Amino acid sequence: MDNNLTDSFGRQITYLRLSVTDRCDLRCTYCMAENMTFLPRKDLLTLEELDELCTSFITRGIRKIRLTGGEPLVRRGVMSLIKGLSRHRESGALDEITMTTNGTQLANFADELKACGVERINVSLDSRDPETFLRLTRRAALDDVMRGIDAAQEAGLNVKINTVALKGTNDAEIPDLMKWAHGRGMDMTLIEVMPLGEIDEDRVDQYIPLTAVRESLEGQFTLIDTPLKTGGPARYVKVAETGGLLGMITPLTNNFCAGCNRVRVTCTGQIYTCLGHGGKLDLREAIRGDNPKEQLDALLNLAMHQKPEKHNFDISDRGAAPAVARHMSVTGG
Ligand code: 5AD
Ligand code: SF4
Repeated sequence: MDNNLTDSFGRQITYLRLSVTDRCDLRCTYCMAENMTFLPRKDLLTLEELDELCTSFITRGIRKIRLTGGEPLVRRGVMSLIKGLSRHRESGALDEITMTTNGTQLANFADELKACGVERINVSLDSRDPETFLRLTRRAALDDVMRGIDAAQEAGLNVKINTVALKGTNDAEIPDLMKWAHGRGMDMTLIEVMPLGEIDEDRVDQYIPLTAVRESLEGQFTLIDTPLKTGGPARYVKVAETGGLLGMITPLTNNFCAGCNRVRVTCTGQIYTCLGHGGKLDLREAIRGDNPKEQLDALLNLAMHQKPEKHNFDISDRGAAPAVARHMSVTGG
């Protein structure tokens, strides 16, 4: 019997994104409210349980695991989880372990990440301007992030910069940010802001379609379409002037769900089969129960059955409720 995870639309699921905490040391205005209610600590899976879950997913054909958050590096002991998981890379069961981080703690962990077999990481950075960074993240942590990026590159990690395009906040800075990233040998991916979770602002004021960003970049740069795929939803262009790659993730202007290869698991063991839907299943009780393997297998099969065909985001109505009540920090990007 084929033990792999295939959903009802024939999509093979080989990529697990694991949010190890929903907490974060920043408060990006498009992601969170200043006063966030986080998941109760008592509901967290232990690091051992997270390892167990990942291992079960690997036996079901998961080939790549990305640790996300919130901010994954604020979870105590996260490095021991990564170190443990690296055995699956060494055995060849896993192709890649990677991470999405905001970079604030990266200087402390870069060497260890590299030593655990992590080869590339994504660092979220929306501005290099101290004032804009502060306004956007509500925390004065830009210097920490910059030190983190330096340390990651010195450690030999391949760094990609993720930038959410935000109208009137960082859109004018994007060309500069891209030149800086490419100048340091880092690719960059732009992301459209998504209507996930209540925040203190209206996303109508934040949203700028990447079609508009691309058009404005084309005034200064030659963007050459490439067929490149790195296993995610980004489409890449090569920038002739910098030689770097620019990815574009367009959940609003261009739906990419047909190629979806992923599921998301939260730090409390909830599996979400789609970022754009509320549907979830509880794996925690299963792994704590009497027959963890059988129960987990049954739930994963059910999850494959329930995975929706696609998301449907819209940011146009002022005051509209978010498409999904859950914040991005629960599931990671
Ligand atoms: N829409 C788009 N991207 C978001 N992120 C967080 N919240 C949102 C949102 N509502 C981004 C972060 C990070 C990635 C994990 O997700 O900036 O780059
Ligand atoms: Fe933290 Fe990332 Fe959300 Fe910013 S976008 S508040 S860094 S989880």
